[in-house]
Amino acid sequence: MKKPVRIAPSILSADFANLGAEVRAIEAAGADLVHFDVMDNHFVPNLTIGPLVCEAIRPHVSIPIDVHLMVEPVDALIPMFAKAGANIITFHPEASRHIDRTLSLIKDNGCMAGLVLNPATPIECLNHVLDKLDLVLLMSVNPGFGGQSFIPSTLPKLRQVRALIDAHVQNGGQDIWLEVDGGVKTDNIAEIARAGADTFVAGSAVFGAKDADGGYKGIIEQLKAQAATIG
Ligand code: DX5
Ligand code: ZN
Repeated sequence: MKKPVRIAPSILSADFANLGAEVRAIEAAGADLVHFDVMDNHFVPNLTIGPLVCEAIRPHVSIPIDVHLMVEPVDALIPMFAKAGANIITFHPEASRHIDRTLSLIKDNGCMAGLVLNPATPIECLNHVLDKLDLVLLMSVNPGFGGQSFIPSTLPKLRQVRALIDAHVQNGGQDIWLEVDGGVKTDNIAEIARAGADTFVAGSAVFGAKDADGGYKGIIEQLKAQAATIG
């Protein structure tokens, strides 16, 4: 079976003065998800957008909104984002005292639920909650900013998580998406796909291509084509 390739442009690198037009443009260009980075200047040293902005962009796209919470505490924001139209909500295990409870809260609010692992967060924290996960998001940069370089030690970690998910599915468990976030570009996405990712966040790569030949459509096509060459 051919592995899916999903491209999730991070609107962190979009033109915030024209967000409605930006998300419409990436959907028209073939984006599979809108990646929505929420930072609180506490869990990470940056401050971005919240449920009001999610609600504002919701009518502009029909693709799922993938909310990446870099906030602490997490739980109070979950019903707010679900109400604002989020489809996927992920959080960092360090930011919740009760990881299992937070995952249930996301699912009870009708969203897909996932854990985000920082570059140095061990994959063992997935062990006891695999049954509840719809996706795992592996950070390939330290969270907080767009435009950073991909950290190479993410690749062996990706392979390990891929093996964990495959074994889980083989034992009758549900499928779990494997998403990578940070420094994904046309020249490394094939390698990242080969290591096991199926969902790729790309912020500066996508939005930086606005004025390039082919624009958003061109870059998203290139990313998908490269990711598909995993042979
Ligand atoms: C970093 C964010 C990422 C980031 C990706 O904390 O979670 O989603 O915006 O941006 P690029 O693709 O530019 O590394
Ligand atoms: Zn993100």
